[in-house]
Amino acid sequence: MRYVVTGGAGFIGSNTVDELVRRGDSVVVLDDLSSGKEENLAEIRGKISFIKASITDLEAVRKAMHEADYVLHLAARASVPRSVKDPLETNRINVEGTLNVLVAARDAKVKRVVFAASSSAYGETPTLPKVETMRPDPISPYGVSKYAGELYAQTFGRVYGLENVCLRYFNIFGPRQDPSSLYSGVLAKFCSAFLEGTPPVVFGDGEQSRDFTYVDNAVSANLLACEAPNVSGKVFNIGAGGRVTLNQTIAHLAKLTGAKLETKYEPPREGDIRDSQADIAQARELLSYDPSVTFEEGLSRTLDWYREAQAKALAKQKSEA
Ligand code: NAD
Ligand code: UD1
Repeated sequence: MRYVVTGGAGFIGSNTVDELVRRGDSVVVLDDLSSGKEENLAEIRGKISFIKASITDLEAVRKAMHEADYVLHLAARASVPRSVKDPLETNRINVEGTLNVLVAARDAKVKRVVFAASSSAYGETPTLPKVETMRPDPISPYGVSKYAGELYAQTFGRVYGLENVCLRYFNIFGPRQDPSSLYSGVLAKFCSAFLEGTPPVVFGDGEQSRDFTYVDNAVSANLLACEAPNVSGKVFNIGAGGRVTLNQTIAHLAKLTGAKLETKYEPPREGDIRDSQADIAQARELLSYDPSVTFEEGLSRTLDWYREAQAKALAKQKSEA
């Protein structure tokens, strides 16, 4: 089968591409490398096609879709605070870019598009865990853009018969999540803080909670969603089903590393939701999704990965000096 992975040089995308290559599928990655990195694909570079282009360029997207069976659409600006700072940019990439992907997929007659949606669509709806039947109520431009992507995908199903599945990921973490940007995911930032011995920075009181989900679980959901029967037009929560506060994640990391660091508390971020937790019953039932890697196991694997990455970077620096 031929898969197009937009955003395939990014964190979740490159982990997904690895698994597709391991299975022996043919893969085309479309990525503008705005937050993704070529080094994320270094080990499989000879086995895939890579197109460096933006999803805002319709002709480039059309080219990538040539003879594709499935499209995994992950390219996006993935940060809530970045969308608060620049809502136009987030809309251009996450909404207009997604529309280009859908138009090109429709015209290339692909079998199905799987869209990387987000738990941020739920906003501050008070009930926990979040169930797909709840009315979305996003509170950030990012959340709106991801919900708009779902609506477009479903509408392309109804109007043009394009099969689509939307996966609302809940705070995915793991190897290759970039810790270096102001907008990086919190566990990537906390892991590197603990390995570098610098204080982790918490926005708010640290009692906000997330359903932190190890990346292998999201990868399995991506692949299951391509081929599951009778699920087109549906939205699925993809989480681990639990809920951990930031203060608890810091306590876990202190235990795993043995480091005692003073946490720096700063004012909360605009657009931040307080609590998040997924009801994953529907994904279990209709996709046979089973998040087999627990939060604790995932955090320990992730920390090992950052440790190794840090050691490699140090060795490289030394050999270049
Ligand atoms: P990421 O930033 O590592 O990956 C995004 C990828 O898209 C990068 O490789 C980037 O270079 C690429 N990209 C960005 N703009 C592009 C453009 N205009 N054209 C082509 N490529 C472009 O982030 P991630 O965490 O791997 O997120 C992947 C997807 O999953 C995103 O759609 C994000 O909104 C969604 N998502 C992520 C999480 C999470 O917790 N990480 C949760 C919910 C949803
Ligand atoms: C994350 C994803 C988003 C996804 C959403 C779905 C990233 C960058 N964001 O958003 O793509 O759609 O989950 O569940 O992957 N925080 C700190 N210190 C830091 C960084 C963050 O305290 O150094 C706090 C934030 O203020 C927030 C929490 O940690 O309260 C989580 O932040 P973040 O990792 O950016 O994730 P979300 O905003 O939940």
